[in-house]
Amino acid sequence: MTDLTGKVALVTGASRGIGAATAVRLAEAGADVAVGCGRNREAAGEVAGKISGLGRRAVVVSGDMADPDVPRRIVAETAERLGPADVLVANAGTGIRMDLDDVDVAAWDYDLAVNLRAPFLLAQAVAPHMREQRFGRIVLLSSVAAFLGGILSPQYTASKAGLIGLAHNLAAALAPHGVTVNAISPGLIATDMLAADPRLEALEHSVPVGRLGQPAEVADLIVSVVQNAYMTAQTVSVDGGRYPR
Ligand SMILES: NC(=O)c1ccc[n+]([C@@H]2O[C@H](COP(=O)([O-])OP(=O)(O)OC[C@H]3O[C@@H](n4cnc5c(N)ncnc54)[C@H](OP(=O)(O)O)[C@@H]3O)[C@@H](O)[C@H]2O)c1
Repeated sequence: MTDLTGKVALVTGASRGIGAATAVRLAEAGADVAVGCGRNREAAGEVAGKISGLGRRAVVVSGDMADPDVPRRIVAETAERLGPADVLVANAGTGIRMDLDDVDVAAWDYDLAVNLRAPFLLAQAVAPHMREQRFGRIVLLSSVAAFLGGILSPQYTASKAGLIGLAHNLAAALAPHGVTVNAISPGLIATDMLAADPRLEALEHSVPVGRLGQPAEVADLIVSVVQNAYMTAQTVSVDGGRYPR
């Protein structure tokens, strides 16, 4: 297992949900963490406080992932304040329920910018240091929506499917340099993304194990992927048996 003591991890979208759980789990495994957020700096500050309480260094790095300048900027800010990122968890994601007929170009472009372009720009920005030091871990947060079609919108599903192809491409480019790239595809996880969905109860019943997943269950998987040096170019589902079934 790769020892994460003293490694620097950048986790985007870590103010809440899966990202917050992952940031804390990585710190428990020994990493110093840049806690990424969009609007909720205060919540991200609380996550950073928890990490400091574990004796690790933590900083908050914020910005709107829809802005193409933000990914490179937060990678640079992480490097300045903690040291260059050894681990990137590109987790920040957005998605609302939208029917086919209602999708316009702006809605399509927004989800693709936040969910797919930003993870690419983040990976591109962390790659030179990872290549140079011959160590790096990149984890992209996809979704079982990529396999099942999803419950939110066409653009959300397309962005999550795109991440799987992106992981394959980056993994091939970076494997010779000691950098692994994998995608995680959660199923229905109990976070704000689903909390307001009026279909929640029915959705919960549709999960073979009979309940929603917890953010910590996804975070545990992410940390074990980060600790594994031989696994790359994979997409791993954590979905209570939704796919395949
Ligand atoms: N929950 C699920 O069932 C599920 C299933 C499959 C995949 N996923 C994926 O897992 C990841 C985390 O999901 P979650 O359920 O934990 O989501 P969540 O609770 O809604 O949290 C989303 C996080 O992403 C950040 N974020 C959203 N839009 C952003 C933007 N434009 N710029 C910067 N940061 C932004 C938020 O930051 P602020 O709060 O600071 O704005 C927040 O920290 C997402 O990529 C999601 O698509 C979730």
